[in-house]
Order: sequence, then C-alpha cells, then structure tokens
Amino acid sequence: MASIEVQSLGERNEAYAKVKIRLRPEVKLEQQAAGAWVLQRGSQKLRFTVPAGPLVEMFTSLRIDGVPITWFQKHPNATATLAPKTQINRLAKAGYLREVLVGLDGRERAALQIRDVIDFASEPPIQDHQCELSHNCWARWSEGTLMLESLDSDGAVLVYDMALLFQIFLLADGQSWSEVDQAIHSLLQAWLMRIGVLEQKRKQDGKRSREKWEFHDMVIHARSRRGFHRDGYGATFVHLNPHQQPTKRNVSKYEEFVLERPVSACRFTTITFADVLQKRKSIRRHSDSAIPLRALGEFLFWTFRERERQRINGEEFSFRLYPAAGCLHEISVYLIVQNCSGLPRGLFRYEPAGHILSLIAPFEPALASVADSAAQTCGFEGTPHVIVLLTAQIAKVSRKYEAIAYSLVLKDVGVIYHAMYLVASALGLAPCALGGGGFADLSQWTGLSPWDEAQVGEFLVGAAANKEGEDLELSEHN
Ligand SMILES: Cc1cc2nc3c(=O)[nH]c(=O)nc-3n(C[C@H](O)[C@H](O)[C@H](O)COP(=O)(O)O)c2cc1C
Repeated sequence: MASIEVQSLGERNEAYAKVKIRLRPEVKLEQQAAGAWVLQRGSQKLRFTVPAGPLVEMFTSLRIDGVPITWFQKHPNATATLAPKTQINRLAKAGYLREVLVGLDGRERAALQIRDVIDFASEPPIQDHQCELSHNCWARWSEGTLMLESLDSDGAVLVYDMALLFQIFLLADGQSWSEVDQAIHSLLQAWLMRIGVLEQKRKQDGKRSREKWEFHDMVIHARSRRGFHRDGYGATFVHLNPHQQPTKRNVSKYEEFVLERPVSACRFTTITFADVLQKRKSIRRHSDSAIPLRALGEFLFWTFRERERQRINGEEFSFRLYPAAGCLHEISVYLIVQNCSGLPRGLFRYEPAGHILSLIAPFEPALASVADSAAQTCGFEGTPHVIVLLTAQIAKVSRKYEAIAYSLVLKDVGVIYHAMYLVASALGLAPCALGGGGFADLSQWTGLSPWDEAQVGEFLVGAAANKEGEDLELSEHN
C-alpha cells in the first residue's frame, strides 16, 4: 500500500512537515471489499466507498500512520466534494481525527484534538502577540498524557513531551521561548490559542457574564451539550465492556420487611389528578405520631416499585412507574427511618422488584447526624420521619451515554423528585425535596465508594400534621 512521503519545506517548516493527521486512538478504520471502508467508534459505524485516486492514498495512510499535513498541498481543490481536504474535514468535524506533532524519533510530542476543520496553512502561523493563560482553562492527567482544555472550545491539546509542557508554563509566566524551535513554538501557541487555553492579553474589562457561574458548573454544562462536549455524545456505547459486571453490593442485611401490596389504587379514586396537582406543596413538618408502615409502603409502592422486567436484545430492562434515561434505572433508594410504626429505626434499602425494605444498618449516632443535616437543609421543625436518599451508578449511564451521563442522572433525579411529590400529596403525606446532601454519607454502611454509587438526591417524607399542630388522620384504604 502507498505510504505518503513527508516533504521537507525548509528550516522554518521543519516542525510543520511533521504534523500528521491521525485517527483518534479509540477510532478504527478498515478497508473491506473493493472501495468500501468502515470507520468505527464504539457502537457507531460509518460506512462509505472511496473512488480510485488520491482519496484511496489518503485513507490508506490514515489507517496506517496518518497523513502529513503537507501532503494536502498537492491536492488544493478544497471545494470539490471528492477533494481530500473536503473529505478529511468532514471526518475532523465529526471528531474522528487529531493533528499530531511527531518528533524526529517518530514519537508523538503533542496533539490537537478538536471537532473543527483542519488548518492546512503551508506554514505554522507566526504568533507574535502577547498572550496569557485563560481563566477558563484547566489541565488534567489523562491516560498518561497531560490534557489542556478550556471552556472556549470543545478541543484539547495533549502534551506527551514534558519539555514542551515546561515551555508552555514559561510562556504563561511571560518568559520567552527562545530556546525552542520557533516553528514548534508557533504551532503549539496557535493550537493553544485555538482551543482557548491561551488568549491575547486583554485589558481588565470586568467579569464576563458567564464567569458568574461556578467553574465546575460551567464545565459540566459545556461538556454535556452537543457541539461543546468532549469525545462521543449520546448513546455511543463507547465504554461498553461486555465482561464488565455491574457494581457489586456486598451489604449484609439485618432483616427484610416484605411490604404489603395495595390490592387496588382505590385510595386515588377519592382525589382527582387536578386536586393532587393543586394540593402539592413542600411541607417542612411531620406529625407527632409516627408514619404508619402501611403509608410508607404505599408511598414506595406508587413511587419506586418495579412494574415489570423485559428482556430486549439479550439485555434485561426494569420498567418502573417513572421514566428513566435509556431505561437504565441507575438510581437506588435508601431510607433513614427515624419514626415509623412497624419498622425499627435505621438505614434501609428499597428493593423495587420485591417491594421489600432491607435493614442494612441499625440506628446509630452517625446516621442521626446525616438525618439532622438533612433536616437543617430545609429548616425542618422537629425530627423528620423518613429521609429518602437517592444514589446513582453513574458508570452504568456513562458506559452508554458518554458525555451526557451526569446531566442525565440529574434529570432522572428531578423526575423522581416530582413522582415523590405527587404520590405523597395524593396519599396525604408531607413531602419536601432537598437541594443537596453529603458526598460520602452512605459509604460506611453500603461499603461502596461514592464514585461507584454516588449520592445524588435527598427528600423528606412523613405523616402530615395539620396547621394547628394536630396530626392528620391517614384515611384507611380498601
Ligand atoms: C430540586 C429541588 C431542591 C429543593 N431543595 C430544597 C431545600 O434544600 N430546602 C428546602 O427547604 N426546600 C427545597 N426545595 C423545595 C422548594 O423550596 C419548594 O418546592 C419551593 O419553595 C416551592 O414551594 P412548594 O413546593 O410548596 O410549591 C427544593 C425543591 C426542588 C425541586
């Protein structure tokens, strides 16, 4: 197969001649029957045919070792549909490619990964303006490489060569790059400016409006929206490993409480849906008398219970009363029970398939302090009967949805919050959502790392007290 010769363009262009366009590491390109090619990333496959001519040469090089950027100077017709520049730009914009600076020893020194057209300029642009590190940039270690990115672009520069890295920080410190090959210097500076890690020195012009956001919120938002995300967007299945087991819970159960299943939904026939919507409100006080187990069981039954399981394409899916992104139902339900007639005080896990509450820790001071801080979060009067804690196996969502996993989990939490509000209101219970909670509150009892099962939601529910402080009678059902 034809391999492409790197042209030498003289001293200043030395580095530029070593820039190659390569496939991103997770992308595979294969040639099949005559003229047919397949590009694959995770579960996404792009099939196309390549007519004889320079495009075959280009795709062959791309598959083997990458296409030197100087090769495109031989094929300048950028506007024609079948011109190499047009075709390579389509792949670049779709996020399959990266530009790589290759050292004399053939090793990668740095790479630009960006979902944008390639700059085919015959020389690295001369960067003579004063620049500085952006306030919106960050660096992180990713698979043995330092990755620099910013909130101004979806792109990233990967630095494999520590000497180059050092130069970047010298530059940010206002020092010169005179020691470095000028062409490499210009190229790197252009890359870093393109992705917003370096920016032209600007006068103090006050805070830009988006800087009023918390930095981490901006990162989550930017990286979970189409066009500004990193890597694959949506159901890519790129992290799918068929051998990967779901997170194992190794929780010893003290006791199981199989809850009564309401024989009918007749409790709901005494109240219209419109009344439930009208009645719903946040209530930050519970009755002096305990919530009966029957009422708590009914709340769980109409909120969290599994409706059915279905096997679809060899995979088992749980269907619940509320929707969930991808039907993954990554959220688990724990309850800190403080005052329920029929249950001991302690930490329980709800099993949606069996409609069972499993006691996993008897009440102890550490649980009480989690409960107290939940009560403080909403200025609760007295002791809440039950604190619902929601945890999520975020990796389960990430395996399928890559860039948007965390944002989907938070949306799922919102769905569950509203389901709890409506069911509690229909049952005459007192609900209140909480806007935050601990990072690792449950780990000591579940034995799971907060990264395996992340706490993502908190909610209080209990028997309602009327305005005068008397307990409201829970009407009998059936
Ligand atoms: C996502 C979310 C987070 C909330 N966080 C809290 C909270 O931390 N403390 C609190 O007292 N109420 C919290 N609430 C309840 C709101 O304050 C309440 O819904 C709002 O004041 C409107 O009152 P209403 O629910 O009675 O209509 C939260 C509600 C939602 C939906």
